[in-house]
Amino acid sequence: VLRRRLRAEDVDAIEALVARTGFFTAEECAIARELAVERLARGPVSGYEFLLAQEEETVLGYACWGPAPQTVDSWDLYWIVVDPRLQRSGLGSRLLAEVERRVVEAGGGLLWIETAGREMYAPTHRFYERHGFEQGARLRDFYAPGDDKVVYVKRLRAEART
Ligand SMILES: CC(C)(COP(=O)(O)OP(=O)(O)OC[C@H]1O[C@@H](n2cnc3c(N)ncnc32)[C@H](O)[C@@H]1OP(=O)(O)O)[C@@H](O)C(=O)NCCC(=O)NCCS
Repeated sequence: VLRRRLRAEDVDAIEALVARTGFFTAEECAIARELAVERLARGPVSGYEFLLAQEEETVLGYACWGPAPQTVDSWDLYWIVVDPRLQRSGLGSRLLAEVERRVVEAGGGLLWIETAGREMYAPTHRFYERHGFEQGARLRDFYAPGDDKVVYVKRLRAEART
């Protein structure tokens, strides 16, 4: 089941989900948690939208996105994560398609994703490229020496600026 409404218990569930992928540092897990806390506290003005994939009471995947401040129609996808046991079964694709649909519905034209360039993220890059994202930029040594930031972008509407 995909649901939009965030609940108090999702804060712990999101942090645990992000942690068990093994992809993120403790600091990054804390940021994922913080965005959920912000959304619960401030609602839509937080600028964070959520979509959760849930089976019974377990959160198996989620996405978090929002409008990029001070832009005409750029949006950021901050997080997209699928439980390691379920990866490569199509759930990430379902979440991403629904995020894109929501962004277009809200008037978004470009969807941006920041990710790391390290080898362990190669499957993640393939996932984005498979879904029509292009590498918009590569910022060398951004996170650490040898650890680049890779920025992906997808044009969601044909009439979006060129
Ligand atoms: C990236 C992620 C969200 C994708 O979700 P998913 O449910 O695994 O993706 P899907 O099953 O919809 O996969 C679709 C395509 O992505 C690519 N892909 C995903 N995982 C892959 C892997 N481990 N190896 C190679 N390709 C992979 C493939 O092209 C795949 O299509 P295919 O199986 O037909 O070849 C998920 O793998 C994940 O949570 N990864 C760890 C966290 C992360 O990197 N998040 C993004 C940064 S915020």
